[in-house]
Amino acid sequence: PKDVGILALELYFPAQYVDQTDLEKFNNVEAGKYTVGLGQTHMGFCSVQEDVNSLCLTVVQRLMERTKLPWDSVGRLEVGTETIIDKSKAIKTVLMELFQDSGNTDIEGIDTTNACYGGTASLFNAANWLESSSWDGRYAMVVCGDIAVYPSGNARPTGGAGAVAMLVGPNAPLVLERGLRGTHMENVYDFYKPDGASEYPLVDGKLSIQCYIRALDRCYTVYRQKIQNQWKQAGIDRPFTLDDLQFMIFHTPFCKLVQKSLARLMFNDFLSASSDTQTSLYKGLEAFRGLKLEDTYNNRDVEKAFQKASLDMFNKKTKSSLYFSTHNGNSYTSSLYGCLASLLSQHSAQDLAGSRIGAFSYGSGLAASFFSFRASQDASPGSPLEKLVSSISDLPKRLASRKRVSAEEFTEIMNQREQFYRKVNFSPPGDLNSLFPGTWYLETVDELHRRKYARR
Ligand code: ACO
Repeated sequence: PKDVGILALELYFPAQYVDQTDLEKFNNVEAGKYTVGLGQTHMGFCSVQEDVNSLCLTVVQRLMERTKLPWDSVGRLEVGTETIIDKSKAIKTVLMELFQDSGNTDIEGIDTTNACYGGTASLFNAANWLESSSWDGRYAMVVCGDIAVYPSGNARPTGGAGAVAMLVGPNAPLVLERGLRGTHMENVYDFYKPDGASEYPLVDGKLSIQCYIRALDRCYTVYRQKIQNQWKQAGIDRPFTLDDLQFMIFHTPFCKLVQKSLARLMFNDFLSASSDTQTSLYKGLEAFRGLKLEDTYNNRDVEKAFQKASLDMFNKKTKSSLYFSTHNGNSYTSSLYGCLASLLSQHSAQDLAGSRIGAFSYGSGLAASFFSFRASQDASPGSPLEKLVSSISDLPKRLASRKRVSAEEFTEIMNQREQFYRKVNFSPPGDLNSLFPGTWYLETVDELHRRKYARR
């Protein structure tokens, strides 16, 4: 099949949020620490009524209803998640309930887990399936869903929750560029979840940021090498730079890190440029010549100088992709795809037509990839790209319709999540009216940990 990529995309987030200025006050930190320092304004969160299964049920149902596709048109469905409520039973098996009436049980794919990377692994698997001899002509669906929660303390304001479902198939308006994946994986303990009795990760925040930046350097280096090799075969011999990307999206633990990451990519471009180019294109940055990437993870001067130098670029290529993350927080596996959704919601199809969108996916532990999408040239009314863009244009309105909950009530609900985490034989407390209409929710957990869901 030609032009395998994303045909349709659906985004789900909880109907309630806490304002980060309220959290700053509640946590007795300086005003601006979360809103300016981290770049976060609101954080979405789930009560006990929602778990990762219900988030994924909701997003899949919404995508299928909106696209009006028959349930038997899906031949592969997989889930990327790091929110584990069962060490054996996949979320995918729960989602099969939605397909039951259609009789379609011939659906490959299962869950993939490594921190925030599982969604990207699933997307790659889906594309690989479509391009393989196993493909049976049907669509693949990739689902990413997570509830990101941290214990009270420094990391708590970097939580969030959400889910994304993507329909993957041929002749897509957002094509995954073939042969252009730069990957870096290594063994580190920056963020992990060794304790089955707790919903919270163990996290070394500073180390996780350093690992993220190092993985970005490595993946970008490999990606550039691969695209330059492709170009060479086509007779083009020049370095790839950020100028070759019209947009750049990142996994977003918090928005400030993304601004620093784009600056970091510019630093990469700068270090690999010829000295003539360094002088002509990177004015005022000459002092940073001859530095090595691996020596600069804690170099604040580099960070500041390139953040300043890349500000215009950030505003043009990346800022619009942070709309969802700013207002909802980190949603782990779905974070990067929430950025993609934001980008689509903030631009017209004409703006996007023909553009290359770079994407950086990072999952602690660690697994990371740099890859790219190519938007189709056709942005005319009714074209696949125009339809994709208009399907997500209500994102700001939907986010604005959520309910603001006080920091006190948010904390109480976090405590409730802790209490109910491994409990059996209960119906979650809470008001169903606090969910968006059409949301799946957890109805009961019986004495054998079996979960039952219903739809509002
Ligand atoms: N006004 C403006 N900015 C402020 C203020 C203020 N009043 N106070 C602090 N800041 C700035 C700081 O200068 C800092 O910015 P800088 O790094 O650009 O200088 C920023 O706010 C954060 O402050 P720190 O003191 O560094 O933050 P803290 O140590 O409290 O925690 C952290 C931040 C490490 C991100 C923490 O929230 C965390 O551990 N989160 C989870 C881990 C994470 O998200 N890692 C990212 C990759 S892995 C993943 O995706 C899970």
